[in-house]
Amino acid sequence: MKIVQIGIGGWGKNHIRILSELKVLSAVCDINSQKGKEYAERFFVKHYESLDDLLKNEKFDGAIIATPTSTHLEIAVKLLNAKKHVFVEKPMTYKSEEGEKLIKIAEKNKVILTCGYIERFNSAVETVKKIVKEKKFGDLIMLEFHRENKMPDHIKDIGIIHDTSVHDIDTANWLFNEMPIVVFAKAGKINHEHEDFASVMLGYKKDKVAIITSNWISPKKVRTFSAVCTNATMTSDFISQKIKIVREKESEIIQIEKEPLLLEIKNFLETIENKAELLVKPQQAVNVTKIAEAALLSSQKGIPIYLDLK
Ligand SMILES: NC(=O)c1ccc[n+]([C@@H]2O[C@H](COP(=O)([O-])OP(=O)(O)OC[C@H]3O[C@@H](n4cnc5c(N)ncnc54)[C@H](O)[C@@H]3O)[C@@H](O)[C@H]2O)c1
Repeated sequence: MKIVQIGIGGWGKNHIRILSELKVLSAVCDINSQKGKEYAERFFVKHYESLDDLLKNEKFDGAIIATPTSTHLEIAVKLLNAKKHVFVEKPMTYKSEEGEKLIKIAEKNKVILTCGYIERFNSAVETVKKIVKEKKFGDLIMLEFHRENKMPDHIKDIGIIHDTSVHDIDTANWLFNEMPIVVFAKAGKINHEHEDFASVMLGYKKDKVAIITSNWISPKKVRTFSAVCTNATMTSDFISQKIKIVREKESEIIQIEKEPLLLEIKNFLETIENKAELLVKPQQAVNVTKIAEAALLSSQKGIPIYLDLK
C-alpha cells in the first residue's frame, strides 16, 4: 500500500507521522517546496511541488489531502479521476454541490472517498455512541457542544461554521444516528474576515436537539460536549477523552485514551484493503456541508431552514 500526503501544514504533518509509522508513506506534495523538501528528507520519501508532477511520476494507491478548504475540490477531482483512493480533510469541500460531484467521480472510478471527521474516532464519542445505541440510560434527547479557541491566523478562506462547527455537526448526526430536519443559527464576526462566533441549533425528529457553540474569540482552548439521556447525563471533553456519567444517585468516570488520527487513517487504509467498513461515508460529509450552508443562511436571514437530507 502506498499513500501520498498532499499539504504539509499544521495538520498535514500529523498525517505524515502516522503514515510513516504505518509504513505506507510514499511521497509528499506541497506547493511550498521548502516544506516538501524538509519533510521528504526527514521521512526518506520523494517530494513534489505540483500534483500534476506527482501523478505523472509516482505510483501510489491513495492520497490524504490536508490543504486549505478552497483547494479540496480541484485536488480531489484530479486524484479520483486518476483512480486513487482519497481521504480529504474536513470540510470535504466548501460547497455541497462540489462534494456531490466528488461522490459521483469516486463511484464512477470505484475508489474510496472519505472525509476527516476525526471525532468519530475519539474514544469519548465512541463510548457515548455505544451507550446510546444500547439504550443503557434510555433515549438520547439533547446534545450540547462547546468548541472555543483563539483565532487561527492561517485560516483565510472560510469561517468558523465550515471550519470548526462542522466537527460537532457531524458528531451530533452520528450520535443521534439521523440527519437534522431544521437548522437555526446566529453567527457574527469580531476579528476574522468570515464569521468567528456561531451558535447553531439542529432540530431532529421527536424534538431532539443539538446546540453547537463555537468561537475564535476565547483565549483558552475548549472542546467539550454533553449528552442528556432520559436516565443519565454524560459530560465529556474531546481533549482528555474523559466522560463523566451522572445519574440520580451515583456518578462514574470513564477515560480511555486513544489517538483518533491513527484510528481514522487505519480505517481509510483497511477500507482500501477490504478489511473494514468505511466509518465516515462521503454522503454524510456532504450532509454536514449542507447543514453548515443552512446555518449560514439561517443566520443571514434570521429564519429557521428546513432540510430533507439523504
Ligand atoms: N481533522 C482535524 O481535526 C483538522 C485539524 C486542523 C486542520 N484540518 C483540516 O486540514 C486542512 C489543512 O489545514 P491546516 O491547518 O494544516 O492548513 P495549513 O495552512 O497549515 O496547511 C496547508 C498546507 O497546504 C499547502 N498547499 C496549499 N495549496 C496546495 C496545493 N494546491 N497543493 C499542495 N499543497 C498545497 C500549503 O503550502 C500548506 O503547507 C484543512 O482542510 C483543515 O480544515 C483538520
